[in-house]
Formats: sequence, C-alpha cells, structure tokens
Amino acid sequence: MNGPIISPSILSADFAKLGEEVRAVSEAGADWIHLDVMDGHFVPNLTFGPAVIKALRPHSAKPFDVHLMIAPADPYLAAFAEAGADAISVHVEAGPHIHRSLQAIRDLGKRAGIALNPGTPASAIEPLLDLVDLVLVMTVNPGFGGQSFIPSTLETIRRIRAMSAGRDIDIEVDGGIGPETVAEAARAGANAFVAGNAVFKGGPAGYAERIAAIRAGA
Ligand code: DX5
Ligand code: ZN
Repeated sequence: MNGPIISPSILSADFAKLGEEVRAVSEAGADWIHLDVMDGHFVPNLTFGPAVIKALRPHSAKPFDVHLMIAPADPYLAAFAEAGADAISVHVEAGPHIHRSLQAIRDLGKRAGIALNPGTPASAIEPLLDLVDLVLVMTVNPGFGGQSFIPSTLETIRRIRAMSAGRDIDIEVDGGIGPETVAEAARAGANAFVAGNAVFKGGPAGYAERIAAIRAGA
C-alpha cells in the first residue's frame, strides 16, 4: 500500500484568506485538501458551497476532497464536480437514495465517497462498497472542528477495513485527528487522515512541521 494521505481541513483555516491558506498547506506537504460543506440542516453549522471551491481551485494542484454534510445532496453534485472537486463524499444518513447519489458522482467522473457518523454501524455501508472509492469514517460528530476523537469509531474502522479487503478503497478518518490519535486510527485500518485544528492552529509557519508530525505517526 502507498503511504498515508494527509488531508488538511480548511474549516480551521483563516476564512479571510482562504486562497493563501490552501496554497500554504499545499506547499507544506498536504496530499489532498479537505473541504467541509455544511448546510445548517444536516449538521448544525454553515460553511461554503461550490462558488468558494471554484475560487480556491487555482490555488492548488492537489486533489480536492469534498465532504458534503448537506441534505439533499443530489441537486448540487454537478455543481461541486464543475467547481473542481476530485472526490465527493456524501453521508449515508443524508437521504433515502444514497445508492443513486454515488452512481451520480461516478457518472460525473469523480471519485465517490460514502461518509458515516459515529453512531452509524459499519454494516450500513456494506451494500454500497461496489460504488465507492473512499469511505469517510467520522471520528467526531460532524459540524465543528476542534472536537475530541471518539474511541468507539476504531471498531467501525476495523470492520470497514475487513469488509473492504481486496478492494481499492481508501479509508479516511475525520475529526480529532492529530499526532496523538493518528497511530490508533492507522492501526485500525485508516490510510487517509483529515486534520483541521492539528494543522492550522498556530499559523502557517508550522504547517509543514505539523503535517510531517501527523504523517510520521500514521
Ligand atoms: C467536522 C469536519 C471535519 C473537521 C475536522 O464536521 O468534517 O473535517 O474540520 O476538524 P478537526 O481536525 O479539528 O477535528
Ligand atoms: Zn470533513
């Protein structure tokens, strides 16, 4: 398997200068850029949509890892693809026709991701494995950066790693990931790591060092 993938979440970046922030983490060693889209309905917070992602696209050549915390998602998938998303993850809890959403993402030529909340069992995504390139395991309840890693999600990661054996599927963890938690997530089977606070807190001078520390722990 290839090395760990580090995907800094710009939710913890300085929103007054997002272009510069995306450029800075890209140069500091990020593998992907994680973009958290929230609708104030599926999750209790609001962030940004396709227009902001489109504006950020010229600032980085790294894959854009778009995490949709919106319901419904289907009416917006094409807009996120056109804005420059490389991978689009939708939540299994976000609607009754998630199978269709994943097919739609692939039909748009993008990598399809399925995300699941800490309270959702691994078995909920088992019927979808043929349709996904990425499983995004939430290791906090989605909505905010800076929360503590929930240890019960380690068992979910282990189950998904076992059920996806032999398939080319990335297992990405999101929430409370930093140098202290990355090792146990990696041991459980994750190979991609979202980090918001652990990268951005403290400012741009430390981005390279903090990304390297997360990578070293994985
Ligand atoms: C939470 C988001 C995460 C968040 C992670 O809803 O999906 O991507 O930015 O932030 P940290 O790494 O600070 O927990
Ligand atoms: Zn996220």
